[in-house]
Amino acid sequence: MSLNQKRCLITGASTGIGRAVAIDLAARGCELFLLARREEKLQELSSELKNSHPQIKITLIVADVTSKDLPKLLLEKTQGHLDILINNAGLALGRDKVETSNLDDWDQMINTNITANFRVAHTVVPWMLKNGGGDILNLCSVAGHLTYPGGAIYCATKHAVSAFTKSLREETCGKNLRVMQISPGMVNTDFSQVRFRGDKTAADAVYSNMTPLTPQDISRMMIFMLEQPRHVVIDEIITMPQDQGSPTTVHRRQF
Ligand SMILES: NC(=O)c1ccc[n+]([C@@H]2O[C@H](COP(=O)([O-])OP(=O)(O)OC[C@H]3O[C@@H](n4cnc5c(N)ncnc54)[C@H](OP(=O)(O)O)[C@@H]3O)[C@@H](O)[C@H]2O)c1
Repeated sequence: MSLNQKRCLITGASTGIGRAVAIDLAARGCELFLLARREEKLQELSSELKNSHPQIKITLIVADVTSKDLPKLLLEKTQGHLDILINNAGLALGRDKVETSNLDDWDQMINTNITANFRVAHTVVPWMLKNGGGDILNLCSVAGHLTYPGGAIYCATKHAVSAFTKSLREETCGKNLRVMQISPGMVNTDFSQVRFRGDKTAADAVYSNMTPLTPQDISRMMIFMLEQPRHVVIDEIITMPQDQGSPTTVHRRQF
């Protein structure tokens, strides 16, 4: 299916996977609605895309995805007309065990990864149904299927995303809405820097002596899902680097 002129909202477009898929969707002629909190990162991406694709239409939505006013802002910016939602904004905070973890971190993960993700879908799904269809691609994780010590809250949030995706897919079956998710293992983005609050040494250690996936790898798979003919739904892609066997099994080379 051609993605040319499709109107796509990407949450969490300022870095990482969201940024990579914005670049690939721009190359296919999509009109982009790019949402994140950091305006300067969005501006930088927008200039880069306009340089390589002078005809492209881009609207920046500088917002916190957890804001209660988001539905109103999304309506203003998109006029309630979207073909594709990449529901991607999310984060992990800390690697502490439940008993020592910080409750504010729990709130931020739950509010962003679960509540905001579901609320964006709640806003967009009625528009898509009214307009005759659309595609929703949720960023889940292998943590939406498996668990690991020190990841209880993050894993719980991604299990919730997975359940939501599957229920929504069933609810909207037959309505030309493709509800899909992608569940990556280790991808080298700012994810670990955010998790360890800017501690570069801790973040770099996550990917040391192994080859992680890149945001471009994930974007390539997302584009593959979106470009399928409309009668084809790839419910989910679960993907890990060759060096990762599970959240707790990582092959690190000895030097
Ligand atoms: N990297 C991995 O290993 C991995 C694996 C599996 C799944 N994932 C999932 O992939 C998604 C993208 O992560 P990433 O790896 O690309 O990490 P990243 O580079 O840190 O990107 C996260 C994006 O989410 C945005 N974001 C976070 N909180 C937000 C908020 N409250 N409001 C608006 N935007 C917000 C960030 O933008 P601003 O900070 O500018 O707002 C940023 O654009 C997440 O859902 C993550 O859970 C990542």
